[in-house]
Amino acid sequence: MKVDVRTICCIGAGYVGGPSMAVMADKCPHIQFNVVDMNPERIESWNSNKLEELPIYEPGLSQIIERCRGKNLHFSCDVKGNISKADMIFISVNTPTKKRGLGAGQASDLKWIEACSRQIADHAKGHTIVVEKSTLPVKTALTIKSILEAYIIKGKNNKTNVKSFSILSNPEFLAEGTAINDLINPDRILIGGDDQESINSLMDIYINWISADKILTTDIWSSELSKLIANAFLAQRISSINSISALCENTEANINDVAKAVGMDSRIGEHFLNSGPGFGGSCFKKDISNLIYICNHYGLYEVASYWEQVISINEWQQKRIISTIVEKLYGTISEKKITILGFSFKSNTNDTRESPAINICKNLLEEGCYLSIYDPKVDSNQILKDLKKENINYEKQIDNSKQIETHNSVLESVVNTDAIVILTDWEEFYDLNLREIYELMRPPCWIFDTRNVINVEAAKSYGFNIWKLGNGKFK
Ligand code: NAD
Ligand code: UGA
Repeated sequence: MKVDVRTICCIGAGYVGGPSMAVMADKCPHIQFNVVDMNPERIESWNSNKLEELPIYEPGLSQIIERCRGKNLHFSCDVKGNISKADMIFISVNTPTKKRGLGAGQASDLKWIEACSRQIADHAKGHTIVVEKSTLPVKTALTIKSILEAYIIKGKNNKTNVKSFSILSNPEFLAEGTAINDLINPDRILIGGDDQESINSLMDIYINWISADKILTTDIWSSELSKLIANAFLAQRISSINSISALCENTEANINDVAKAVGMDSRIGEHFLNSGPGFGGSCFKKDISNLIYICNHYGLYEVASYWEQVISINEWQQKRIISTIVEKLYGTISEKKITILGFSFKSNTNDTRESPAINICKNLLEEGCYLSIYDPKVDSNQILKDLKKENINYEKQIDNSKQIETHNSVLESVVNTDAIVILTDWEEFYDLNLREIYELMRPPCWIFDTRNVINVEAAKSYGFNIWKLGNGKFK
């Protein structure tokens, strides 16, 4: 059924729900956008008058919030009320990997999707278009549909509220740190569904700022699957280049030159060939794990094991960085102080989910060192929380927080430190005051650059020892 959409509800005010609805609201002033979340603290931050207190740091986001909030963009905890007002509902809730039970460690935990579906089934009025924006295992639309239909059948005799639903898949491809630009200028918008009129209703929204040739429509299963596969392919490129970074170190080649030469082949392309400490972020590992789970489910064991390697190489890359640091610092880092520059999983975000920094720091702490950590945007409580969680041995009551300091600047963080490990490619790390840093450190002053940000010649000239990932000359 074609719906003239006037009111939209987005369930989930996270890294996807918040920015994507903000951009839509900015581009569609004729539509009201109500972003709801069950987490009152998150909603409070979205409504804060101090724009620096928004729950998400994303370049360009605060300006849009300032323009639209209170006009056609609203953040609230009233999930039921806003569902009942909506012509269209985006589901943007989290879909993490299951921690226990059947499929633990691989399958998606769909409990938040199920909860949302039940809320929608209960509170929607009239005809509602339900849009999957979360990343979901292929065939999840069936689960949503079956919940919605079960409620309709049960409430069949309620003549005052005749409900109907159509379900679309409209996965989000934004990357954190560039989310606003990605939302304004996406490579494509993908809409999957079997009801052309509902698809048209959603297209009518995007057409306000995106040209029709960028809007691709498919059946719902291809759309759900394409999102998982896009992430798997991106992650695969990172594991491919990271595997070769190790070979470069052993053959005196330079990974940057190799990546450039390979990427200049237009069939390969230059993007996603930066070697580093492995991919982080909330989605790559989760989505590949989910892909592996689905392949195994269908008996495609060879396909599953092919994709397993992408995750294995990612883990191995971090392991080899950790052992390189220990080896270079004379085989022990016990009681030594190590500066960590960058804690978020990539630059321009305050998100630390699955950040390589977490695993690398935890392992360094296990070796008995002290960590002095600086990140321009990650809150120090978040750093302590990420490193504490599994690193306290509750049986022995060992608390590692005394081993960790967090700082507000690079210079503060390097005082009396034995080594600097660069883990995130923040802009300011490309332009470090190496002379001053060298003076503040304890010799022999090591820099471990996992993000290719340091000018090695300059660093050498000040007296630093330097290890640069993937560079055979500085190994
Ligand atoms: P997030 O954890 O930041 O946000 C999800 C929000 O949903 C949370 O605030 C949570 O409180 C809320 N929520 C969960 N169940 C709810 C319910 N029943 N009612 C109300 N609120 C509820 O997650 P995210 O990073 O925004 O990711 C959301 C989805 O989008 C995931 O499926 C993810 O794979 C996908 N995705 C994420 C990104 C990204 O860059 N983070 C990009 C593309 C796609
Ligand atoms: C990724 C995808 O790029 C988005 O298209 C997708 O929507 C999103 O996942 C999702 O589904 O959540 P994101 O994780 O935010 O976005 O950021 P990326 O830029 O993809 O970076 C992911 C990780 O890979 C980071 O740790 C980054 O440092 C690393 N990376 C990226 C590299 O190590 N090398 C590269 O060349 C590129």
